[in-house]
Amino acid sequence: MRHLLPPLPYEYAELEPHIDAHTMMLHHDKHHASYVMNLNSVLKDFPDLHERTASWLLLNLSKVPEKIRAAVHHNAGGHVNHSLFWRAMSPTGDGAPTGLFADAIRRDFGGFELFKALFDDAGAKLFGSGWVWLARTQHDGGKLEVSTTSGHDNPLMRGHFPLLVNDVWEHAYYLKHENRRADYLKAWWSVVNWEEATDRFERSDRMAEDIRESEGESLLESPA
Ligand SMILES: [Fe+2]
Repeated sequence: MRHLLPPLPYEYAELEPHIDAHTMMLHHDKHHASYVMNLNSVLKDFPDLHERTASWLLLNLSKVPEKIRAAVHHNAGGHVNHSLFWRAMSPTGDGAPTGLFADAIRRDFGGFELFKALFDDAGAKLFGSGWVWLARTQHDGGKLEVSTTSGHDNPLMRGHFPLLVNDVWEHAYYLKHENRRADYLKAWWSVVNWEEATDRFERSDRMAEDIRESEGESLLESPA
């Protein structure tokens, strides 16, 4: 079992009332777990890939045999993105970014509220299943960008370092919010882990370089 399901960094119910415990249980123990299980299963007969991390696999799909490439893409992406997503939230979240991170948000979006509106709008407009991101790009001195990805793609596949992510697959919100994705996006701000996002921002220069050198090995690295 090369790939392991990381434990949630909090209890299922700790994000209540914003995200319900049942959704958290299913999302982590069933959905994320199935990506991990399927990734291990699909790699079973490919020992050359057994030592590779999920993020390496996602960023080096051209090196993965074609017959398992689509399955590795989907399941490694699901594993990487959910691992980032659990840490993007916290029971003691809410609040707002501070320091240089706050300055960068002001510079690139015109203000914190404008950034949040852009993020919510991107999440609401994403057609089908996917993710909404705040990422640090590699242009204009590391400009911040809000973007979406379909399926389980990650901005790092375009060379942009992820700082914050929200899951907008229906399994993330349907039990509580049904079809009202905009309500979920709004509620989610109450559980955002700004400490984690700030840490990722502060480390993003070095991380981007590390990731290039390691071909993605450190994407899942947990900040201290
Ligand atoms: Fe999900």
